[in-house]
Amino acid sequence: TGYITLDQGYGNTGSCESAITYIDGDAGILRYRGIPIEQFANRPNFIEVCWLLIFGNLPTAAEYGDFSERLTRHAMLNESMKHHFQGFPTQAPPMAILSAMINALSCFHPDMNGADSDDQFIAAAARLISKIRTIAAFAHRSSIGRTYNYPNPKLLYVENFMHMMFSEPHAPHETDEIVRLAFNLVLILHADHEQNCSTSTVRMVGSSGANLFASCAAGVCALWGPLHGGANVAVLDMLEQIHQGDLSVEEYMRLAKDKNSGVRLMGFGHRVYKNFDPRAKMLQEVAEKLLKHLNINDPLLEIGRRLEEIALNDSYFVERKLYPNVDFYSGIILRALGIPTNMFTVIFAMGRMPGWIAHWREQNLQGARIGRPRQIYTGPTEHDYVPRDQRG
Ligand code: CMC
Repeated sequence: TGYITLDQGYGNTGSCESAITYIDGDAGILRYRGIPIEQFANRPNFIEVCWLLIFGNLPTAAEYGDFSERLTRHAMLNESMKHHFQGFPTQAPPMAILSAMINALSCFHPDMNGADSDDQFIAAAARLISKIRTIAAFAHRSSIGRTYNYPNPKLLYVENFMHMMFSEPHAPHETDEIVRLAFNLVLILHADHEQNCSTSTVRMVGSSGANLFASCAAGVCALWGPLHGGANVAVLDMLEQIHQGDLSVEEYMRLAKDKNSGVRLMGFGHRVYKNFDPRAKMLQEVAEKLLKHLNINDPLLEIGRRLEEIALNDSYFVERKLYPNVDFYSGIILRALGIPTNMFTVIFAMGRMPGWIAHWREQNLQGARIGRPRQIYTGPTEHDYVPRDQRG
């Protein structure tokens, strides 16, 4: 069947053509549909970016109004979905609940596989972007044994999430404009990153003809791992460990450089960026501003800064071109907003949802071939079956 090239981890294989996100890893450039990521920082609006990524243009006023209205209308979950939450143990990781419930959405909307028409696709996409937030908040409420806060149609996307997570009867920072904008920016900076592990997974699953809900549920599973979206939790654990005095910054750095330790500097390094991850720079600025605004003095921010400074001047990291990535500072922001650590990767998934949807759709419109990589076989050569009574 011809010669097969081994490319472990697909470091050098283009799996598709895509017009969604452009990255120049050497120059530290990231653009959504051609727009530099830095330009979203002025008045960050996550819903606008969702539309941009999925449909390719910044929404007109009419498109924005219609899409926002859909998100509001579809924020509720089917009442019987609530029983699912009670079926999980209290300590269940919210990422497990999230992927299971997103997959379950396909049972509640079986007429919406997303592929039959534009109307059906928009309906499915709006439901996913809206309901992932409700599922995330309900998973949290259920894990702390509190009643669910139903979505409030009067609230904007992020405010509604904070309300569903925290209202008793009010959510902290619920009217704080700076918090709302910071949270929008966090979601935007996670919204797409071309063929990362979870997005490639969504495309792979979707390439078999699987529906949009099932494909995105698979994306959540891929994102869960500590080398991908789970890194934002791992960063916080690392900073906490240093803060608690289990290890000093210097000891941690020594372990991170030791290949036998199994320890890495979490939130550092990237397959594509061999220069500063522009998202990390922006998130560091947001973290500094937000903490100042909320009058929070988080010792973890200082530890993060020290780790970064040492790493950027250490030949191990310099030679390998390892820089802070998106996960390095995001946790400090989420922590300042009162989001528990076990929800960090869930927030990443909320942000990444439009990217997954955009790629699923792009692939569908391309009529792409089913994903089916080959392998280099390394097992035994042909030998005969031995009956059980003759085996030694
Ligand atoms: N700490 C210490 N050494 C590292 C690190 C790190 N964070 N990252 C890479 N290296 C070393 C690695 O050991 C290897 O060294 P050598 O050439 O001597 O064998 C070299 O740098 C290249 O690393 P790699 O593992 O071949 O790189 P990769 O492209 O396969 O992996 C990565 C990329 C992001 C998984 C990796 O850098 C990593 O594990 N980082 C820590 C986890 C993390 O922060 N993940 C979030 C990624 S960004 C957001 C997302 O995608 O979710």
